[in-house]
Amino acid sequence: MRIAFFETEAWEDDFIRRELSAHDLLLSPDKLAALTLPLDNDFEAISVFVNSRLDKQVLDYFPRLKFIATRSTGYDHIDLPTCRARGIAVAYVPGYGDNTVAEFTFGLILNLTRKIYSSVDQIKETGSFSLAGLRGMDLVGKTLGVIGTGRIGKEVIRIGRGFDMRIIAHDPYPDEQFAALNSVEYLPLENLLRRADVVTLHCPYNPSTHHLINQQNINFIKKGAYLVNTARGAIVETQALVNALSNGTLAGVGLDVLEEEGETKDELNLLRDGHPQEEKLRIVLQNHLLMRMPNVLVTPHNAFNSQEALQRILDTSVANIRGYLAGQPVNLAK
Ligand code: NAI
Repeated sequence: MRIAFFETEAWEDDFIRRELSAHDLLLSPDKLAALTLPLDNDFEAISVFVNSRLDKQVLDYFPRLKFIATRSTGYDHIDLPTCRARGIAVAYVPGYGDNTVAEFTFGLILNLTRKIYSSVDQIKETGSFSLAGLRGMDLVGKTLGVIGTGRIGKEVIRIGRGFDMRIIAHDPYPDEQFAALNSVEYLPLENLLRRADVVTLHCPYNPSTHHLINQQNINFIKKGAYLVNTARGAIVETQALVNALSNGTLAGVGLDVLEEEGETKDELNLLRDGHPQEEKLRIVLQNHLLMRMPNVLVTPHNAFNSQEALQRILDTSVANIRGYLAGQPVNLAK
């Protein structure tokens, strides 16, 4: 089978060549998007990571495509309705980095609540050992609000309990058994926002979670609380973040993901369709505003990025491809 891998590194190429030696492979470090289409389009299977954008235009470029293996948990960068209409199966990687993302989430939480980044930055930039503006907040006894108690959310809860935090959670499909074992109180979203000192997001992005945190309900957040998003950018309305930071509702925000992340990382994307949409431009501008705020930490979608997690991603992706080839597909996106 002809299989194209995009967004791979040299060590991954070696592994993939070894594991899939019977196949005709293209291995490219580039992302796959409308502006970066390869010359060759004769592939039956494609594997990408989250920086690729498999919209209809890109999918149409590959007439023989039958299978996509995304090397990620989220698959909102792939146009699933078009895949369904064309009979293209999409496999993803569930649960490769539950601890990985959870550990990073706490990295952001501690950086915000103890101003660690600002402290380091101050010493590096000015050499000053002044403590002015660097006083933080203890986590012990504080309330952690976890939105989405799937694989990653549960790891976050375990770590939060290690810090002796009170745990409240919101999920349309609550896991009552886990809640009972881990002293988790499930609440409606509004009540969680009113009570949490730290709100952290771990639900998938889909039409029902678009702007789950928005200009209306962000006002319920307790004054001085922190918000961390390592899930997907558009779960939070960017304008709402700007407002809540400007009026002091939020003391700080940690974002590993941004709404219109692709356009913010690579502004050439904005020009792809001729005249960029006003809404996208506005969000990109707001992102730049957030990146400059001292109490906002933006990281480059890095939460998954540990050596161990990457190896698990590759192992599962190869298994996904083998399963598909054997007529027994696994981990299919629904
Ligand atoms: P999961 O599928 O195990 O859990 C998601 C949970 O969210 C489920 O319990 C589900 O019921 C819940 N949920 C669905 N709609 C909800 C809503 N409206 N409100 C609250 N909860 C809701 O997924 P997992 O593995 O825990 O990953 C969560 C997300 O984390 C992924 O979808 C992905 O977007 C993101 N992620 C980010 C990474 C990064 O590097 N920043 C790496 C890996 C995942």
